[in-house]
Amino acid sequence: MRFDIISIFPEIFDGWLSQSLLARGQKKKILKLTAHNLRDWTDDKHKTVDDRPFGGGPGMLMKVEPIMKAVESLKSKVKSKKSEKARVILFSPRGKKFTQTEAKRLAKYDQLILICGRYEGVDERVADYLADETLSIGDYVLNGGEVAAMVIIETVVRMLPGFIAKTESAVKADHAQYTRPEEILIAGKKRAVPKVLLGGDHKKIALWREKHS
Ligand code: ADE
Repeated sequence: MRFDIISIFPEIFDGWLSQSLLARGQKKKILKLTAHNLRDWTDDKHKTVDDRPFGGGPGMLMKVEPIMKAVESLKSKVKSKKSEKARVILFSPRGKKFTQTEAKRLAKYDQLILICGRYEGVDERVADYLADETLSIGDYVLNGGEVAAMVIIETVVRMLPGFIAKTESAVKADHAQYTRPEEILIAGKKRAVPKVLLGGDHKKIALWREKHS
């Protein structure tokens, strides 16, 4: 699966991209992740990506042309194969709420083109005519869509076949868990691991886990 991120701050993704799980997924050719600089699709001297809103108002809006060019050129990269399986996503707090169900749906595409908005917003024609859908990761306002893109990518890649090694679990345990030490002093009080987990009675352990899930 291919992820193409469009951002004016592509370097935000560098450390995160080199992080072990994502790097391993790329090495195993399960995914390909690229953070592109939107300014690469401008043709003026100042590489302008924003402008004042018509009708007045504070702040700047991201322009439609560079985003249109970026989307067109990134879509064409996989056109020879099956461009119908590409999905263009815009991030905005006004978008549809992203959930695990949405992640499952997105994991079926061959390519996600992720548009990260910044400034006060994005020319509405991006949402109306360029993006297939607009997603929000929650009811709060971020400085831009970059963190939202990371959230969505991390959730989707976990569903790709082979991304999670067989020795790891794709779904985090939904019950309380403990590891060593068996006992520790926290703020002067002895805090111990439940005794049942230290014994070998698997039936009792299963019951305990069910109760604490
Ligand atoms: N951009 C700003 N806030 C956002 C949010 N909550 N979700 C997605 N993109 C955003």
